[in-house]
Amino acid sequence: MADFDLIVRGGTVVTESGTTRCDVGVKNGRIEALAENLDGNAETIIDATGRLVLPGGIDSHVHLSQPSGPGIVMADDFESGTRSAAFGGNTTVLPFCLQQKGQSLREAVKHYHSEAEGRCYTDVSFHLIISDPTEQVLGQELPALVKDGYTSFKVFMTYEDLKLSDLELLRVMDVARETGALVMVHAENHDAIRFLTERLEREGRTEPRHHATSRPIAVEREATHRAISLAELIDVPVMIVHVSNREAMDEIRRAQGKGLKVFAETCPQYLVLTESDLDGLNMEGAKYVCSPPPRDAASQDACWEGIEDGTFAVFSSDHCPFRYEDVAGKLAPKGRTSFRWIPNGIPGIATRLPILFSKGVGEGRISLQTFVALTSTNHARAYGLYPRKGDIALGSDADLAIWDPEKKVTLTHDLLHDGCDYTPYEGMELTGWPVTTIVGGRVIVDDGVLVAVRPEGVHVARGQSEYVHKELDHGTA
Ligand code: URP
Ligand code: ZN
Ligand code: ZN
Repeated sequence: MADFDLIVRGGTVVTESGTTRCDVGVKNGRIEALAENLDGNAETIIDATGRLVLPGGIDSHVHLSQPSGPGIVMADDFESGTRSAAFGGNTTVLPFCLQQKGQSLREAVKHYHSEAEGRCYTDVSFHLIISDPTEQVLGQELPALVKDGYTSFKVFMTYEDLKLSDLELLRVMDVARETGALVMVHAENHDAIRFLTERLEREGRTEPRHHATSRPIAVEREATHRAISLAELIDVPVMIVHVSNREAMDEIRRAQGKGLKVFAETCPQYLVLTESDLDGLNMEGAKYVCSPPPRDAASQDACWEGIEDGTFAVFSSDHCPFRYEDVAGKLAPKGRTSFRWIPNGIPGIATRLPILFSKGVGEGRISLQTFVALTSTNHARAYGLYPRKGDIALGSDADLAIWDPEKKVTLTHDLLHDGCDYTPYEGMELTGWPVTTIVGGRVIVDDGVLVAVRPEGVHVARGQSEYVHKELDHGTA
């Protein structure tokens, strides 16, 4: 009988706290041994000589199978989305479970579980999107769901069907404070966007590029300030997601400087895309329509600064994929009449890690340890998965990504294995690639090939966020 199910031999193990030459022994899905030269045999041995062995990526901002308006269909379901995630070195993703107006939150959760069950290549865990904070939702459903391990929820300050008023934001934040959950905030001022959109439309400025004109930096800065102020009023930690520019970062830094528990996320699109990508001829610019929109070179520099100095705790994809050549996607007929109707969101679940590795680690902006923290460990800490996930430590899940740090790759859509028909990063030259992805000790992707026989990822109930740290009387911590 073999000592281990799997041994990864000869690699350099990197965690948030250090880099060591180390073999990794795996049994029953967990890391059972770590040693420079591990004794023992295994059914499967992977030679990782010359490679880096990292905790698998955790992408804590992902949209899969999410309803997105009449006639619009998201390009990825749980199967294609998690498959693509695995090709990009991820082992866990946190997609959103969207409560539609009038819907019970518990019903929404049941529905997403039925969509995900038996279809995930990575592990998954749902955040809740609260779009209808009724008394029943706030008083009963949310507290019960937090106890069941859904310990984070997202609220929106924009989008017609999702936006909450300040009163509703405060009510949801208050439940988070009571239950010890972490609130994620999409910070853009809806009324300001609507005003600018209507004016642009009256002027006949309806091309995709005006999506960015309708959502300028002030719209994000104001909402970021307001979200932080509301959170401060009731003393609740918040995570400001998909931050795109320096002015919003200044609000976050001021709050952090005052000792408030304000955390922040940025995404690849804010490091490597700009507003001018929305300029493409005809409808090509629609491929880059996401909110907040990509900004300019100065904003990119600011976001890099925030990555380097710790303003950002997490780096996520905000993968929200719509096919381009598709009337149910970016080329929806209404979208041709105005940018207002182009489905918001871009794909990026497989490209998040290679872009940050190449442009961040490869170009000397961040260390390997910081890379691991920003792409895996901090997500686990922020969302109640640590130390089960986000680390290479005895007893942790055997979720590993083996990287070839020298591999040169020109990004093309066919490398990504998602349900989309384009990548916004086509043609980008990168150095460093996740060659093998292992989830719970099972090899899922190896050398560009999906080797998993079937999707066996599971839904993980989460504990309390380390960023919240609240004493609870019902024992979910
Ligand atoms: O454009 C985006 N980001 N779409 C996804 C939904 C969201 O706001 O995160
Ligand atoms: Zn958002
Ligand atoms: Zn999103």
